[in-house]
Amino acid sequence: MRTLNVALGARSYPILIERGLIDRAELVLPHLRTRRVAVVTNDVVGPLYLDRFCAGLRANGITVSSVVLPDGEAHKDWPTLNLIFDMLLGERCERSTTLIALGGGVVGDMGGFAAATYQRGMPFIQVPTTLLSQVDSSVGGKTAINHPLGKNMVGAFYQPKLVLADTATLDTLPERELSAGLAEVIKYGLIRDPDFFDWLERNVERLLERDAEALAYAIERSCRNKAEVVVADETEQGERALLNLGHTFGHAIETGLGYGEWLHGEAVAAGTMMAAELSRRLGWLSGADVERIDALFLRAGLPVRGPDLGVERYLDLMAHDKKVEAGRLRLVLLRAIGQAVMHAESPQADIIAAIERCCA
Ligand code: NAD
Ligand code: GLY
Repeated sequence: MRTLNVALGARSYPILIERGLIDRAELVLPHLRTRRVAVVTNDVVGPLYLDRFCAGLRANGITVSSVVLPDGEAHKDWPTLNLIFDMLLGERCERSTTLIALGGGVVGDMGGFAAATYQRGMPFIQVPTTLLSQVDSSVGGKTAINHPLGKNMVGAFYQPKLVLADTATLDTLPERELSAGLAEVIKYGLIRDPDFFDWLERNVERLLERDAEALAYAIERSCRNKAEVVVADETEQGERALLNLGHTFGHAIETGLGYGEWLHGEAVAAGTMMAAELSRRLGWLSGADVERIDALFLRAGLPVRGPDLGVERYLDLMAHDKKVEAGRLRLVLLRAIGQAVMHAESPQADIIAAIERCCA
């Protein structure tokens, strides 16, 4: 089993990566405060894994409650969040009950937000079942729901006690979702790990074929990158914002089209191409660098052009970004492949040109 530690002092926690972990309830037990858990999942993941996971917990003497949410980004909202609270209150779950999120990033972000706020905070465990959630969203404690005016606009920083990444769950993941997860994997190479970017150029087809060794390696290396950043800057006062490469443009795509139309990873890929093109215009990336990034996303099955929302709409949506400070748009850009920077001085004409260049 591959094991990493997110070193946050008293709030440190392990990330376990291996095939078959959801059948190993004994790994969860040391991280529970009491022998009571509430599992949050959705109506796609639930039928696949909920009974198995709960059976293992019950066999170890754990009392299990559960709730099955409607699937999808479009349900990452208040009414769906309330279904979690309905279950927790209806089942008389206590502040010491551990909430376990079993699913992708949507379930993880919503389960985490519910855990952060139910009775002012209950213990929380992430069992991510998509590539994207195993490499990114389950690690680092960002939790949120969407608002019609902006992605992930309402939420909390709230770290889990444990992340259990069962790579065998990826066997049932649709191809499009696997590709979406690769967008966040490629992101780590682009922002801080150029050797990993090179490795991805050599191995992306193995990942698409779900080669177990390649997947486990990419998940571990991604989590290592993420954990290092989170440990250095847990609440995003600086470096952590670099993890949002492509996200300002990407969130505009997701919000502009309506949540769920494009997958988050797809929007991040097209958004990253806009950031790369802007970086080229600022004289940081070469044309050849931009082509390398474009080619890798394409090989990973990802879009490299955003939808044509109109530049004004992009700019309007981007003005809601969480990185906007004193009305100033701050963008994550690339000084080089493997070196991201935060930049607030991009000329408006270059931002517009980058969006136009990278729209379908
Ligand atoms: P998702 O949770 O919607 O999962 C994608 C789809 O795959 C869903 O239909 C889901 O039900 C299904 N699914 C999940 N596991 C499956 C499995 N093993 N087999 C078959 N189907 C499965 O999307 P996602 O890509 O996992 O996560 C995207 C979300 O994560 C976005 O809301 C994004 O904002 C958020 N996110 C959060 C962070 C963070 O730091 N908290 C980071 C990145 C992304
Ligand atoms: N996905 C960005 C972050 O966790 O900070």
